[in-house]
Amino acid sequence: MIPLFKINVPKNIGAKLQEVFDSGMITEGSYSDQFEKEFGEFIGNKNVSLLNSGTSALSLAYRLCGVGPGKEVISSPMTCMATNEPIITMGGKIVWADIEPDTGNIDPASVEKLVTENTVAIVAVHWAGTPFNIDAINKIAKKYNIKVIEDAAHALGSTYNQKPIGTHSDYVCYSFQAIKHLTTVDGGALACKNEEDVKLARKLRWFGLDRKYIGSKWEQDITDAGYKMHMNNVNAAIGLEQMKTIQNVIDAHKKNAEYYQEKIVNPKIKKTKYDPESSYWIYTIMTENRQELKEYLLTNGIASDVVHVRNDRYSVCKPYQSQESLKGVEQFCNEMLCIPVGWWLSQDDLNKIVDVINKY
Ligand SMILES: Cc1ncc(COP(=O)(O)O)c(C=O)c1O
Repeated sequence: MIPLFKINVPKNIGAKLQEVFDSGMITEGSYSDQFEKEFGEFIGNKNVSLLNSGTSALSLAYRLCGVGPGKEVISSPMTCMATNEPIITMGGKIVWADIEPDTGNIDPASVEKLVTENTVAIVAVHWAGTPFNIDAINKIAKKYNIKVIEDAAHALGSTYNQKPIGTHSDYVCYSFQAIKHLTTVDGGALACKNEEDVKLARKLRWFGLDRKYIGSKWEQDITDAGYKMHMNNVNAAIGLEQMKTIQNVIDAHKKNAEYYQEKIVNPKIKKTKYDPESSYWIYTIMTENRQELKEYLLTNGIASDVVHVRNDRYSVCKPYQSQESLKGVEQFCNEMLCIPVGWWLSQDDLNKIVDVINKY
């Protein structure tokens, strides 16, 4: 079976982990400091706060935007619930925008009419790694003085206008969960446009205290109640090992997507709009009978999946039903299927996948 996802385990990770445990510094320490620095350099934004998950990054971004009772966040249902669930737990209201059916990304045309005096942020995922229209969303946000949060869980290594994702909006959230381009087992990062925001984020991730404080850490005053969301040294050591090969991983995903773009030619299959700036965490195709295609691929030894389902159909989202029908979401979520595209595919795998899909 050609898997849809594969976990990238760095070579010699055992020895590295032994080194961390032997150092006795298993919470925050030199590895987390160094990973934070290297990751910031990689995305071209030094205002990074390393965290224990992508969900924590989103939660912190919402906190910095002031999400809470009476506040609204415009979001898309076509994402992982991790994008939307923190809005609910923080007492905010989700307002659903539609998506473009040829990318899976938020449709800027559906967003502006959803802005009210209670809107504090627009959050959008870069579906499959393909950047959403960041300029159009930021233009709307600027007009109404609201914040933009990019959920870049799929999009490490993607660029937009030739600049790395991580540098365009107020907040950009990354996930280093098991099956992402870069895994630290679990982990995440929040990149902020503004230096003041990252300073606060670094405090909020650890009870509202500055861990770099010289002296007795616990004797500092806590002015903003925080969380326990920091990345520990063990996860960071894994992240640092991953940094050595991350560009190769991203390049492989991109190359494989380019290959599909050229070689998949079955008129029964639609491909999502190709974007050479995408880091293609997944590759999404569309067809009328998705279940039939999925079973056909499985019979031929190829795993595929929807990966995410539309979030607005969950019972917890009942209070936030959209008044208008979300036509783009309807079409995309009925037809889309994700196929393997990652670094683990050999040329034989790629040829097989193309051949099987073209014969469908
Ligand atoms: C789009 C999206 N956002 C957020 C997350 C949450 O990341 P984490 O699992 O690291 O909390 C994920 C994946 O898990 C995701 O796919």
